[in-house]
Amino acid sequence: MFETCFIPRHVLVAGGCGFIGSNLVRYIVREHPDVAVTVLDKLTYAGNPENLSGIPGENLRLVVGDICDAELVGRLVAEADAVVNCAAETHNDNSINDPTPFLDSNVRGTFTLIDACRLRGVRYHHVSTDEVYGELTLDDPHRFNEDDPYRPSSPYSSTKAASDLLVRAWARTYGLKATISGCSNNYGPYQHVEKFIPRQITSLIDGERPKLYGDGRNVRDWIHVDDHSSAVWGILTLGRLGETYLVGAGSERNNLSVLREILSAFGRAEDDFDWVRDRPGHDRRYAIDASKLIRELGWKPVHVDFSAGLFDTIEWYRSNEGWWRVAKRETEARYAAMGF
Ligand code: NAD
Ligand code: DAU
Repeated sequence: MFETCFIPRHVLVAGGCGFIGSNLVRYIVREHPDVAVTVLDKLTYAGNPENLSGIPGENLRLVVGDICDAELVGRLVAEADAVVNCAAETHNDNSINDPTPFLDSNVRGTFTLIDACRLRGVRYHHVSTDEVYGELTLDDPHRFNEDDPYRPSSPYSSTKAASDLLVRAWARTYGLKATISGCSNNYGPYQHVEKFIPRQITSLIDGERPKLYGDGRNVRDWIHVDDHSSAVWGILTLGRLGETYLVGAGSERNNLSVLREILSAFGRAEDDFDWVRDRPGHDRRYAIDASKLIRELGWKPVHVDFSAGLFDTIEWYRSNEGWWRVAKRETEARYAAMGF
């Protein structure tokens, strides 16, 4: 553990109306109620102000706007002493269909935020992904670590890799006070229904058949979103400047086994789903070695029982149909138009 600890008084959370951003805001307000939080969010199809509902509002403010808007970003960064960037276009399938907004939000948006932080000496934390490292084979004993080379496969992951490189260059050249976290696949409440777990849960609630890509053997390393939030907070407050920390909970599963667990929770047969055509460039496996984060910052995940976390997530979607109903209709129409 480090002796010095940076406790921000006012954090700007970009993308705080998305899945990870809103769970992070909930975490900060719950665990550190004295810290003021400003959310900057463009409210794309993936951003929903309702994701912040129920969070005590005294120290929380939402500003609707784009992280590419340098004037607005400059003003908000000047009021904060830390910025956490969760704002991004995040869905691989969408990036294959139309990469343009990924270039704008993920690359230009990151540039706009870090340059504003550089000019004002504000601490910056970049929320990134394990996907920048590409894929592992199913039988590879290796898990991703911070020294692995960047080998992104998709338009989405290549823009995330580009944004990481900008942050690293700004840290080295300008002394930007920055850290990066690279997390594995998150699950939990408020995840958009385009993503694998919520898509299958909501299809089953609707009595539809889930859709599994390819041979279903692709592996993801699942982590509960609350554990991602505690890791981001730990890195922001205790992390070494200029460093990257990988975040994962050691829960590798293939898609078929996750889907079968969901089917079983609904009392449906284990083959009651459709095999559909694979995602182009589909990464085979991700796996995280989080030992640097654990060793240096003393972080550890709380939600270590994936099945229990999955069950709670299913219950959340069952209880919050009003939250996802409209998005579900739009998402399935988008999937149909994209041919997935
Ligand atoms: P999300 O799609 O649920 O939310 C993204 C949020 O960013 C939305 O609220 C959206 O309105 C906002 N946004 C997008 N473009 C913007 C712009 N130009 N200006 C302002 N706001 C904008 O995404 P998420 O799953 O919460 O992911 C958040 C971050 O975490 C991303 O950087 C993603 O790469 C990273 N990440 C996600 C996962 C995961 O499993 N979901 C895992 C590792 C890393
Ligand atoms: O690894 C971290 C990444 O995890 C994040 O950087 C991304 O923002 C996030 O979207 C996620 O990327 P994935 O592509 O792994 O997630 P997705 O939920 O889209 O898909 C998970 C797996 O499930 C993947 O192997 C594709 C498969 N899949 C997905 C959908 C939507 C299906 O089999 N059927 C589906 O309908």
